[in-house]
Amino acid sequence: MTDAAKAQDHVLIFDTTLRDGEQSPGATMSHDEKLEIAGLLDEMGVDIIEAGFPIASEGDFAAVSDIARNSRNSVICGLARANFADIDRCWEAVKHAAKPRIHTFIGTSPLHRDITALDQEGMIEKIAATVAHARNLCDNVQWSPMDATRTEHEYLCRVVETAIKAGATTINIPDTVGYTAPRESADLIRMLLERVPGADRIVFATHCHNDLGMATANSLAAVEAGARQIECTINGLGERAGNTALEEVVMAMRVRNDIMPYQTGIDTTKIMHLSRRVSQVSGFAVQYNKAVVGKNAFLHESGIHQDGVLKNVQTFEIMRPEDIGLTSKNIAMGKHSGRAALRAKMAELGYDLGDNQLKDVFVRFKALADRKKEVYDDDLIALVADTSASGGDDHLQVRKLRVVCGTEGPQEAELTLAVGGEEKFVDATGDGPVDACFNAVKMLYPHSAKLDLYQVSAVTEGTDAQATVSVRLSRDGRVYTGQSADTDTVVASVKAYVNALNRMHAGQGRANNSALQTSAAG
Ligand code: KIV
Ligand code: ZN
Repeated sequence: MTDAAKAQDHVLIFDTTLRDGEQSPGATMSHDEKLEIAGLLDEMGVDIIEAGFPIASEGDFAAVSDIARNSRNSVICGLARANFADIDRCWEAVKHAAKPRIHTFIGTSPLHRDITALDQEGMIEKIAATVAHARNLCDNVQWSPMDATRTEHEYLCRVVETAIKAGATTINIPDTVGYTAPRESADLIRMLLERVPGADRIVFATHCHNDLGMATANSLAAVEAGARQIECTINGLGERAGNTALEEVVMAMRVRNDIMPYQTGIDTTKIMHLSRRVSQVSGFAVQYNKAVVGKNAFLHESGIHQDGVLKNVQTFEIMRPEDIGLTSKNIAMGKHSGRAALRAKMAELGYDLGDNQLKDVFVRFKALADRKKEVYDDDLIALVADTSASGGDDHLQVRKLRVVCGTEGPQEAELTLAVGGEEKFVDATGDGPVDACFNAVKMLYPHSAKLDLYQVSAVTEGTDAQATVSVRLSRDGRVYTGQSADTDTVVASVKAYVNALNRMHAGQGRANNSALQTSAAG
């Protein structure tokens, strides 16, 4: 047991945004983006970062290895199914970390035992052998009985005991399908602590999915019963309805520390920046009324609420915006603001821009300030995301676009696109301006990718607001995402589409169905 976990009031935060979160269909992140997110998580004080599933692909292996090499304080963990090949590959990737961890798992519920064609005894043998193998490689081994909340209690106690005897140092109890409820979640941890020999020597973790909207409550209930590690993701990113949201459990334990007297090592002022970056790089927008990090989480629309907040902010606010890193001074920047002011503003928003990036963002900021009366924080954040999404050496580059639209269709797009440095022009029509533009791109750069997602959202209020557009393409079982922002929604759409195609051209996609066949023990 780690020193931190021994102190009864400390709860370890295990972030799996880069593994379980990225497994969410379409939540592709590039290698550099994964490194950036891991760096931010480390800086925020996450105890353990689950960086990926090394055997899933060369890309996953490279990402976990590089995250391990660059890690500072966090433990770096990789996932492995219950077989030697997975575990060896995982170790090869995480061993570069100052503090490595192997996380191995197998589905233990009757449904999963059926799929792996193992009977109860056969599975026990497999668990003993694989956990011992992992422990021979690494001192820090986490083991999970997948679908624990639908595993017979008697059998769950036996498998947990087996894993502890074989050397597991953390036992994670996953509610894989988001099936449990708070009281049951607590009872399960209590039962394991009471009945399993050796349970007092290891850390119990809780890993909840949000299918019934109870992931946060279930995780906190498990902690009250004795779990000392919460597995979670930024924005609750994850398959189906997602995982426990890091920002929710951390802020719940902080705001209601009177009834949940636990501490974490999280610097909560970094939450908002991470939330935005994860949303930008994954292409998963945060719902406006999402707890803690939603756009409306600190907005007071009704007259009574506004009046109350003006007189005493505590009437309707239980946390301060600055506690999660929301700058209270949303001061608009204008066209007279200089480079130093922009750098200071970006630093305040959590962005440490290098000289070259600052130069690019500044040019685009000036152009935006010319078109838009006031440039707000969210505008600047969208600009940075857009600048880092595209580069000067991209295969496809939008040079010029003119669109004719109106009540009389078909709409028309004249597009000049540089393809591998060669400028090409086309005049295309379509059912609406965006369709006409996408047709034009496809005529100049024929491809067989399918458009799986096209999503537009306004960055700020007003008709001169920027729009951010996310596009997701798939081809041959791989997905490619692109994003862009512009005051012209059609321009943002074309740039997001071209951005996704550039990623496809550069081979920066990921498997559509993650190689993680969670039920296959391999
Ligand atoms: O939800 C789950 O069961 C998992 C395991 C691989 C731990 O993510
Ligand atoms: Zn999971």
